[in-house]
Amino acid sequence: MNTVLLDKNRLDRKHFNCGIEPLNNYLKLMASQQAKKDNSRTFVLEDHNDNSRIIGFYTLTMVPIVLTALPDKLQKKHSSSTSAGLIARLAVDKRYHGRGFGEWLLIDALRKLVAASDTVAFPLVVVDAKDGAKQFYQRFGFQAFQHAEHKLFISIADVRASFS
Ligand SMILES: CC(C)(COP(=O)(O)OP(=O)(O)OC[C@H]1O[C@@H](n2cnc3c(N)ncnc32)[C@H](O)[C@@H]1OP(=O)(O)O)[C@@H](O)C(=O)NCCC(=O)NCCS
Repeated sequence: MNTVLLDKNRLDRKHFNCGIEPLNNYLKLMASQQAKKDNSRTFVLEDHNDNSRIIGFYTLTMVPIVLTALPDKLQKKHSSSTSAGLIARLAVDKRYHGRGFGEWLLIDALRKLVAASDTVAFPLVVVDAKDGAKQFYQRFGFQAFQHAEHKLFISIADVRASFS
């Protein structure tokens, strides 16, 4: 399995349904435009056994670090850092839920972010876990920011260590 950059001319986005309309609409209406402007990159996983239907996708970009939202120890450590990698969206089509694709996409996204951080260093990965997905990310070691319970983070060092 591997993810590819979203190609709106080839992939059928209109049948994608993860159960959350804003995420469906992002894939259908926004993802490609945002990539064209170099604001974010969206990667998709296709089902080659079913007319290249989209199984799931994630979107990566960067986000400013709000130092005061970090635990005290990390505020000091990252006081000169400005940006974190952001998994801005991650979703799996309802037909494929519960088959490990969400976990696979998250690991794939983290691998890409670790590779990116080897070139343009950044110390954290952030996710926006709206829509009841907080526990999904906590299972992989993400922890909530202070005063922002839907935003979670993990250090690139911890992700790198978990891969080695
Ligand atoms: C959240 C989502 C990506 C999970 O995808 P999935 O392919 O169904 O998940 P997986 O099959 O890979 O599940 C991996 C593990 O996480 C658990 N899990 C899945 N969804 C979860 C959730 N919302 N909360 C807590 N745990 C969850 C599974 O039970 C599984 O655990 P197990 O290995 O012990 O069985 C998917 O349900 C989805 O697209 N939801 C709508 C969009 C969304 O909420 N996106 C996240 C916010 S951007």
